[in-house]
Amino acid sequence: MAAEAFAMTLMNIPYLSLKEITALHADEIQQVVRTVVDSGWYLQGQWVDKFEKEFANYTNHSHCIGVANGLDALTLTLRAYKEMGVLADNDEVIVPAHTFIASVLAITENNLVPILVEPRFDTLAIDDAEIEKAITPQTKAIMLVHLYGRCTYTDKIAEIARKHNLVIIEDCAQAHGCKGIGKGDVSCYSFYPGKNLGALGDGGAVTTNNKALADAIHAIANYGFSKRYHADNTGRNSRLDEIQAAVLSVKLKYLNADNARRQELARSYYNNITNPLITLPSLMDNGDNVYHIFPIFSEHRDALAQHLESKGIGTIIHYPIPPHKQKCYNQWNHLHLPITEKIANEELSIPLNQTMTDSQALYIAEAINSFKTNK
Ligand SMILES: Cc1ncc(COP(=O)(O)O)c(C=O)c1O
Repeated sequence: MAAEAFAMTLMNIPYLSLKEITALHADEIQQVVRTVVDSGWYLQGQWVDKFEKEFANYTNHSHCIGVANGLDALTLTLRAYKEMGVLADNDEVIVPAHTFIASVLAITENNLVPILVEPRFDTLAIDDAEIEKAITPQTKAIMLVHLYGRCTYTDKIAEIARKHNLVIIEDCAQAHGCKGIGKGDVSCYSFYPGKNLGALGDGGAVTTNNKALADAIHAIANYGFSKRYHADNTGRNSRLDEIQAAVLSVKLKYLNADNARRQELARSYYNNITNPLITLPSLMDNGDNVYHIFPIFSEHRDALAQHLESKGIGTIIHYPIPPHKQKCYNQWNHLHLPITEKIANEELSIPLNQTMTDSQALYIAEAINSFKTNK
C-alpha cells in the first residue's frame, strides 16, 4: 500500500510504550509473578536457576550468571578478570567512543583505562581499521558494543585480538538474540525494561564458556563468597531477583518472534524512507541486526524531531553527549572525535518495536519524507 495513503490521518505513536509491550503477554506474566509472590522465596531460588539455564542455552554458552543490571554485568566481568590476573590496574581496554556511558563506566570503575576508538558513520560500529593503531603494550582487552542491536563482532577483530592476546568482552545490552554476537570471551546483558528482552525492573546477566570467569563473577556478585559466609575476595551484592527471572523466562520464549517483527518493520523503513535530508545506517544482513533502536541521521535533527512530534510521533536521541564530552570525564573533554560527535549531533531514534503495525511504520516513513528545511 502506498505510504501517502496514511499521510492524512494523524496518528499518535509514542517512542516506546512499555505498557503495550507488557500487555502482549500480560496473562502469562501476571501468572508467574503471582506464583513467585505466593512462593515466599524471592532471591536465589528456582526461577533464577531456570532462567540462567534457559538464557545460557539461548546464547549458546555454558554459563549464565544473573546480576542486578547491565552496568554490573560489565563491571563485575572486568573485576573478575582482575581477580584472575588477566587484567591489572591501569591496563587499557579498547572501547567504541560512541557508546552508552555504562560501557566506559565499567572500565573506569575498575581502575582500567578506556581507549576510545572512533566508529564508522555508515555502520556505526567501531572502526576495525582504527583498532590496531590504538593498541599499546598496556592494551589487554577490547570491549565490543553491539549498539542499536547491530552486531559489531567481525573476524578481523577476532584476528586482531588473537594476535595481541586481548580478551573480547561484548556489551550485548542492546542486542539480545542478534545472530553474530557471543563469539568473544564473555557477553554482558542488560534487561532494563525497554530492551529487546526486558524485565519489569532492573536486571542483567553475563554469559560465557569460561567456567573460572563465571565462578569469579558469581562470587563477586555475592559478597565475594566462594561458599556461604566464606569471603575469599571482597564482593558486592548484585543479584537478579526471582520475580524478574520469572518474567524474563516468559519473555525469552517470544524474543525471536519479537526480533523478527522488528526486522520486518525496519525493512519497511529502509524501503520507504526516501528523504534526501535523512541518512540511514548501512543495511545489515537479516539476523545481524535485532533493531533495538532504529537511528536516523540529519544535520537538521532538532527540526526533524519537532516535525515528527507535530505528526504525533515520539523520538529520542541516543545519545546526545558522548562519553568523552561528559563532565565526569573532564580529562577527555579536550578530545575531538569527529565521527562520534557527528553521530551525537545528528542521531534521532524513531519508534520501532514489536507492538507496531505496518501502517504505523508507513505513517512514520511518510512523516519523515514530508520533512523539509526552510533553506
Ligand atoms: C550499550 C549499553 N551498555 C550497558 C547498559 C547498562 O545497562 P543497565 O541500564 O541495565 O545498567 C546499557 C543500558 O542501558 C546499554 O544500552
